[in-house]
Amino acid sequence: MTIDLAALPEGFLWGTATSAYQIEGAVTEDGRSPSIWDTFSHTPGKIDNGDDGDLACDHYHRWREDIALMRRLGTNAYRLSVAWPRVVPGGDGPVNTKGLDFYDSLIDGLLEAGITPSVTLYHWDLPQVLQDRGGWPARETALHFASYAAVVAERLGDRVKHWTTLNEPLCSAWIGHLEGRMAPGLADIAAAVPASYHLLLGHGLATQAIRAAVPDAQVGIVNNLASVEAASDRPEDVAAAHRLDGHTNRWWLDPVHGRGFPADMRELYGVELPEQPGDLETMAEPLDWLGLNYYFPSSVTDDPTGPIPHVRALRRPGVPRTAMDWEVEAAGIERLLHRLTDDYGARKLYVTENGSAYPDVVRPDGTIDDPERTDYLERHLAACASAAAKGVPLAGYFAWSLLDNFEWAYGYDKRFGLVHVDYKTQKRTVKGSGHRYADIIRQYRERGRDAA
Ligand code: IFM
Repeated sequence: MTIDLAALPEGFLWGTATSAYQIEGAVTEDGRSPSIWDTFSHTPGKIDNGDDGDLACDHYHRWREDIALMRRLGTNAYRLSVAWPRVVPGGDGPVNTKGLDFYDSLIDGLLEAGITPSVTLYHWDLPQVLQDRGGWPARETALHFASYAAVVAERLGDRVKHWTTLNEPLCSAWIGHLEGRMAPGLADIAAAVPASYHLLLGHGLATQAIRAAVPDAQVGIVNNLASVEAASDRPEDVAAAHRLDGHTNRWWLDPVHGRGFPADMRELYGVELPEQPGDLETMAEPLDWLGLNYYFPSSVTDDPTGPIPHVRALRRPGVPRTAMDWEVEAAGIERLLHRLTDDYGARKLYVTENGSAYPDVVRPDGTIDDPERTDYLERHLAACASAAAKGVPLAGYFAWSLLDNFEWAYGYDKRFGLVHVDYKTQKRTVKGSGHRYADIIRQYRERGRDAA
């Protein structure tokens, strides 16, 4: 597979990504309070195999080893998230210095290793105390989020310049409050819509707070967008595709671009927005960059009796699937990169997550060959380079994930890592895909064209 590495700009960020609850463990250490994910994962029946994030990859204690792994891969950037319940265990109010100390040391370690940190403030781990006070459906949560953002930015902002407010707010609002498959596990459109609104309000307020603390910050938001197509030319299917685009893409992109919430979706949801004067302007605080998380495309048909947004994804015959049962189609990432550039005028883009889960087999000699994940990586990087060659302002790519980790409701069975984790021993082993990523990065540095 040829990847046109010469199309990628100077200073391209080659990264890996993780999130706090998925790797840190140490859930009761140094003053951390429970998050909604501690509660959810300890609720019987919510997570496959009854797994939880109590230990995860024990990154809280093994972060030096994990930085050494990043160096082995040759990456020059790392996307991590800060756990709000470690830093402000009460949700608002007193700051837990020990929690901040952890991230402070981690950032220093990354910088010493020549790795640029990219810090996400919210990757789904709301302090449970705030959930008890109403969670994201309550306006106060957005205000508390901005205060917490200010605390983290003030402490780390002398060294961290690359900031993300929210990771995939769609999952927090729609999967957590409408589908109930993620924390806090609600299934109520009347909670989901205000949650989505307050997440975007929190994003705008946090952007202002970060900029106030770190004037040279580069601030963005990360969305998991869908590359949607109608399964047929039937008007019903075309309308279904437009609805899924509204639910997954436009609802999240339009407000931050000053376009407000899409009228067609407001009508479909039928829930009053908790609007106050000035909110839409706050949500549309100008951004330095946009982050795209892409995994799979969706070919959809109308499903009038199905749940909101009344669409059903089709299984297209012959299209390969990952262990998540997600279709593999690299062209989808390129389509979305063009869409963000052409329709939303993005001036700087990062692929902030992209990756695949497959069941790994550890060979008797301890090595892990993962040709399917390697192929997925190559195809998607080739699509990114192709987009860049056509003028998309792509400035970096973060592979999901550095390590196998806690895959939310799927527990530990689904492995996305470029590095294998033996959860019994915590031994880390770079997989074939990790070695391939290192090769590609090396070739880029040599300014060569990859032709392996
Ligand atoms: O593991 C998740 C991550 O937390 C958010 N984006 C998708 C990944 C794979 O499902």
